Amino acid sequence: MSTRARIGIIGGGLMGREVASALGRWFVLNDFPVCAELTAVCDIAEKQREWFRQVPTVKLLTADYRELLASPEVDVVYVAVPHHLHEQIYLEVLKAGKDLFAEKPFGIDLRAARVIADAAKASGRFVRCSSEFPFLPGAQRICQFVRENKLGKFLEIHSGFRHSSDLDPSKPANWKRQVATCGEIGVMGDLGMHAVHIPLRFGWMPRRVYAQLQKVYPERPDGKGGKAVCDTWDNATLHGEVVVNGAEAPISIEMKRLAPGETNTWFLEILGTDGGIRYSTKEPKTLWTFQRGKEQLWQRTDLGFQGPFPTITGGIFEPGFPDYFLQMWAAFLAERAGKLEGRFGCVTPEEAVQSHCLFAAALQSQNEKRAISLDDFLSANAAKASS
Ligand SMILES: NC(=O)c1ccc[n+]([C@@H]2O[C@H](COP(=O)([O-])OP(=O)(O)OC[C@H]3O[C@@H](n4cnc5c(N)ncnc54)[C@H](O)[C@@H]3O)[C@@H](O)[C@H]2O)c1
Repeated sequence: MSTRARIGIIGGGLMGREVASALGRWFVLNDFPVCAELTAVCDIAEKQREWFRQVPTVKLLTADYRELLASPEVDVVYVAVPHHLHEQIYLEVLKAGKDLFAEKPFGIDLRAARVIADAAKASGRFVRCSSEFPFLPGAQRICQFVRENKLGKFLEIHSGFRHSSDLDPSKPANWKRQVATCGEIGVMGDLGMHAVHIPLRFGWMPRRVYAQLQKVYPERPDGKGGKAVCDTWDNATLHGEVVVNGAEAPISIEMKRLAPGETNTWFLEILGTDGGIRYSTKEPKTLWTFQRGKEQLWQRTDLGFQGPFPTITGGIFEPGFPDYFLQMWAAFLAERAGKLEGRFGCVTPEEAVQSHCLFAAALQSQNEKRAISLDDFLSANAAKASS
């Protein structure tokens, strides 16, 4: 028998609407143990709130998130607001006794992420952070390949996320372009979780990081006839090394808002001496696997619609963003109900804090133009916190 999960959304912008879309077609999941329903939405902008009037299950529309948190019709709160508001709202969700599905980057900086993770632990609520790309069939196959130990000795890992949406300098600035609202980590806060979720899940936290960060357009139109300062990092490439099976292997992590020709490209490539695997949303049906035999063979597999949670959609069809976003929500609610059954789960608070450690160390690397040891960074940080 399925249980019910009543969802409230705080922040009904780009991502809040994607959640309404995912929950609105929950019935496509076959025999799923949880019945999810969107019951309440909060946004300070009336225009954003009004959009949700067309969702028949929504009973509460409000501009005050505290009203949503007080509602007995809400079990789980999904929060998708600018980064400077994460800490305050996430903490209040937990204080209200609700479970939390938090948007990345889980706080504007490392300090905020730690405060939220500590509060999550103390509250005993179920808390996860959003990152949908691991739920793509190609990404799932990469995880399976790694678990089945098909790589031999590890050679290297390349992970990344590329956008070109900011290449046009006439695009008006928004909160994602400013340190005060997006965070000093800039593009790493915007795109970084997507690039590090799978590596962190396999324990591949870089031991050392050398960062190359770029700010390319220092100002943009403000959308009101003037100019707005854009002080966040636009592009970031991190180089580091991870330890796999006792041996060091290089990792590169790319996060770019200014990547010519790329609309929304997530990719991951892992190479070993016996096998390799490569997937990119650039060619969403195509999975490349490498096998070292008598000949060196890169094999191309046409993927179908195999998400971790079966749906009514035919196995030969192609998945898109709304499909793996729905699969991520299924993973969140399955894990919350104790029914994940070995499948890949959403980002944990501990992983979110790890990602912030990496990005904070990357800022130090950029400032000092040298590689930073994560151990040294963490001890210096702990000493600072206790002094
Ligand atoms: N998982 C993903 O793929 C993905 C993609 C984009 C953004 N995000 C993340 O989602 C979050 C939101 O990003 P977005 O692109 O949806 O932003 P957005 O600007 O489109 O939407 C944010 C919404 O929050 C509302 N808001 C602001 N202050 C509020 C408050 N105090 N109470 C209630 N509502 C408030 C705004 O009116 C706006 O509608 C960020 O953390 C971002 O990093 C995730």
